[in-house]
Amino acid sequence: MNDPFGRKVDYLRLSITDRCNERCTYCMPVEHSDWLPREQILRYEEILRTVRVAVSLGFRRFRVTGGEPLVRRNAVEFIEQLCAIPGVDDVSMTTNATRLAPVARRLADAGLRSVNISLDALDADVYQRVTRGRLDEALAGIDAALDAGFDRIKLNAVLMRGASESQVWPLARFAAERDVVVRFIELMPVTSRELIGEDAFLSMRDAMDILRERDTLTALPHAKLGAGPAVYHRLESLGSTVGFISAMTDDHFCETCNKVRLTADGFIRPCLGNHGEIDLKPALRDSAPGDIDAAITDTFRRALAEKPAEHIFRDQYVPLRIMTAIGG
Ligand code: 5AD
Ligand code: SF4
Repeated sequence: MNDPFGRKVDYLRLSITDRCNERCTYCMPVEHSDWLPREQILRYEEILRTVRVAVSLGFRRFRVTGGEPLVRRNAVEFIEQLCAIPGVDDVSMTTNATRLAPVARRLADAGLRSVNISLDALDADVYQRVTRGRLDEALAGIDAALDAGFDRIKLNAVLMRGASESQVWPLARFAAERDVVVRFIELMPVTSRELIGEDAFLSMRDAMDILRERDTLTALPHAKLGAGPAVYHRLESLGSTVGFISAMTDDHFCETCNKVRLTADGFIRPCLGNHGEIDLKPALRDSAPGDIDAAITDTFRRALAEKPAEHIFRDQYVPLRIMTAIGG
């Protein structure tokens, strides 16, 4: 499907839960506990039905997100079913890896091609401060992922002033040693918490300057590894590739956007950085049985027609609900 700006949209992100076992400061308010009520969360059959219709509309790539997808019961079985749908070419998952170790092999065998793992720090104290979780658990998950034989593993590190400066180089080296790509992500104002302000912001340029103290960066011109908006550079001495996801400082960030999101509670959200969402639940739950797929199709078309040209994060954007249900 094309959006009104001629961008081909073939990538659907599926948030399967708003819950998480961690509480990353950039993502979740400290005392947050008002999880969405169970009946508002889409059932797996509803998500799979939506995916089948999405395939008929030209979607080919799917990413399972949360919250933390692996905290939802039977997430592995769900991913197995998702991978088995004809026309689903590429399934990936975003995870904090803390619960990945026991299921990594099974996920890879099911056909999960790639995992993006959140790893914001390599110092246990900094990791704890940023995620309120335990570094050793995440590292165990990463080791298991490396053993499991995924096609692609990427590490995602959110840049935060006051925390990341000391972590950027160690993360680059850690990734190089394991032959995986790390992407440094500029903090976006997506959490409802008042954390987001100039004080905590560390730009892509800042991260590059830190890396340049130790190594030479060479831009990879048209390298779009993966399907997203990241830009990639070569670290000459380490012999590795690093990426930058800079929604805040890259004016071209949205130009090739190819994705929409399905939120955990069944809204199609055409852009992370705009508030618009279209409720898919009436199509799934209130249509006559024979009309459900047509109603899903119609909802996708309406959502695509409303896909904005770009995010409004620079425009004093204030999130209306927390990130986890929307799915990073
Ligand atoms: N800014 C940037 N990225 C974020 N993520 C979550 N919250 C934010 C934010 N405020 C992304 C991170 C994390 C993934 C789950 O979602 O990449 O690893
Ligand atoms: Fe959980 Fe991911 Fe949010 Fe961190 S960013 S609290 S790991 S959902």
